[in-house]
Amino acid sequence: MRDSRGVYGCDLRYSAYEIRNEKYVLDNLPYVHKSENGAPGDEGMQSLLITLKDDRLGLEAELCYGVLPQLDIITRSVVLKNAGKERIVIEKILSASLDFPEGKYDVLTFYGRHAMERNRQRQAVSHGIYSVGSTRGISSHQYNPFLILAAPETCETAGSCWSMQFVYSGCFEALAEKDQYNQTRVAMGLSDEQFSYPLEPGDQFTAPEVIMSYSSSGFGKLSRNLHRCIRDHVCRGRYAHEVRPVLLNSWEASYFDFSGESLCKLAEAAKDLGMDMLVMDDGWFGSRSDDSRSLGDWNVNEKKLGGSLKELVDKVNALGLKFGIWFEPEMISEDSRLYREHSSWALVVPGRKPVRGRYQLVLDFSRPEVVDYIFSGMCEVLDHANIEYVKWDCNRDIADVYSATAKDQGKVLYDYVLGVYRLLEMLRQRYPKLLMEGCAGGGGRFDAGMLFYTPQIWCSDNSDAIDRLRIQYGTSFGYPVSTMGAHVSVSPNEQNGRVTPLETRAVTAMAGTFGYELDPSRLSAEEKEAIRKQIRRYRRLAPIIQYGDYYRLSDPFCDEVCAWENISSDGTMVVVTAVMQAVHGNMTENYVHLQGLDEEADYKVTDPGDTGLAAESIYNGAALMEGGIPLPVRMGEYHSYQLLFVKC
Ligand code: GLA
Repeated sequence: MRDSRGVYGCDLRYSAYEIRNEKYVLDNLPYVHKSENGAPGDEGMQSLLITLKDDRLGLEAELCYGVLPQLDIITRSVVLKNAGKERIVIEKILSASLDFPEGKYDVLTFYGRHAMERNRQRQAVSHGIYSVGSTRGISSHQYNPFLILAAPETCETAGSCWSMQFVYSGCFEALAEKDQYNQTRVAMGLSDEQFSYPLEPGDQFTAPEVIMSYSSSGFGKLSRNLHRCIRDHVCRGRYAHEVRPVLLNSWEASYFDFSGESLCKLAEAAKDLGMDMLVMDDGWFGSRSDDSRSLGDWNVNEKKLGGSLKELVDKVNALGLKFGIWFEPEMISEDSRLYREHSSWALVVPGRKPVRGRYQLVLDFSRPEVVDYIFSGMCEVLDHANIEYVKWDCNRDIADVYSATAKDQGKVLYDYVLGVYRLLEMLRQRYPKLLMEGCAGGGGRFDAGMLFYTPQIWCSDNSDAIDRLRIQYGTSFGYPVSTMGAHVSVSPNEQNGRVTPLETRAVTAMAGTFGYELDPSRLSAEEKEAIRKQIRRYRRLAPIIQYGDYYRLSDPFCDEVCAWENISSDGTMVVVTAVMQAVHGNMTENYVHLQGLDEEADYKVTDPGDTGLAAESIYNGAALMEGGIPLPVRMGEYHSYQLLFVKC
């Protein structure tokens, strides 16, 4: 804190506490809440609110702890109030910090880049500070706002581990430090870079929430705590608890090159293959024929569509398909009507050449009038056609931080995120049945903050199944399957040229929200028939995969096989999926050891996939976990196996 004379520091002393038998809520920010469907986690939910004061500054701090004992979750947020008579400036505020007075630890973080997000890194905490974070205005492709501290021997199924996860979508810092006495501290909160937030007398400021969890039996259990917490206590709305529609997205099918007629053809093909929804991605508005123009002009290009949007949507609906649409609400192209009318709405520093990303600038969402304008533009589209899904994209970071109307530029990055949340919330309120999917150049803003508004996020612009194994593996440490946008695309893949079997692409996308992103007219009759079967299989397995418990059975960064398992919430159905990442001469068999089964119970193979196990054969739970399932060696690269067991 910095006071009006420029003196730094604060000295907060205990003043009062309160215990409530419900979870606290936060104003204008996302938070963990009571479930909407009576899910585990609600029972025993409490809050502890501790008030601290610094009398010299006239500052009050409320430390907010939320407790979900059933899921081993504790949340933490901080609300600061200026109860004094002079202005105070917040120069740095973290939301949570944990101290470990002794012991040796590893820290796990999730780094990446565009099209290769959330690689897991594990290293020993040593003397000094190790920190990751984002100063890019969004949580970023580079580091996810999530870390795990673990005892050195901790693995998937055994050992102690603690996690911290930021419920926020902007700049952050997460750190692990070993100090002079060999004590370890982990902490998480807002980044202090370009942050300096004034509080006038009477003002208050909320530091975003951190979700913390603990497991004494390895990373798998820790992840399952977090999966339930995010799925049932962060995500909201009708679709949070429903299997999502199987969609066909137009992006990798035709990029900017489509018409109303070609979209109708896609819709007919999607229907024929058994899908539920057509999504019209980028390119339908203004004069957007490539990525250099029209962001901000959310008016339908009727010439390109050959009629009104309503006419197109009605045609798609008449085929029995839902319709979805793409927006990039936070952005502005210099070649747009909006920029010509309101150039001061773009975040640029006067006198400095703006940094462009994908040819575009970022709108100043710290200004309420900008958010309101974009909201009315989006409503104009959404009110006039039966649109049931919106993909909310954000294809660049913030580089130039200057708001034409802000008195204090140190507020802009935080207020920007509040602006994003306000627009998302207004859309949720006005269109409660709308399914929203987040996206930021793929998975550049994959965080618990966005998931409060959009129950799914496009996991990565990389749709190659083999790269996705690693991306989805890393993501699964903190986030449930139901949040990971994943589609089957063409082979050779358009991001890396890799050739993979259609079945492998399908089982990998089934470990996410599942859909397709290709042009069906280029498929052979056999491929079409295979897709029909995949969709039928997915419909049977989806409730288990999306709403059951998830187990990582191998590590795709070091094992030849990448395998995972989903057990239905009542424990009776078990789906095992495995993908071979390597093939060699005289290959040895890989064994996949199942987890989480009942040792005493028997399990019947009801769908053996390509495992060579006999349908209807019965195996004991302990045998499947201890002995494992041998995967028969097959010719060719990237073979996959998916099988279903039912508990006898
Ligand atoms: C981003 C998204 C893609 C697609 C394009 C459209 O890259 O991640 O899925 O929507 O934008 O421009």
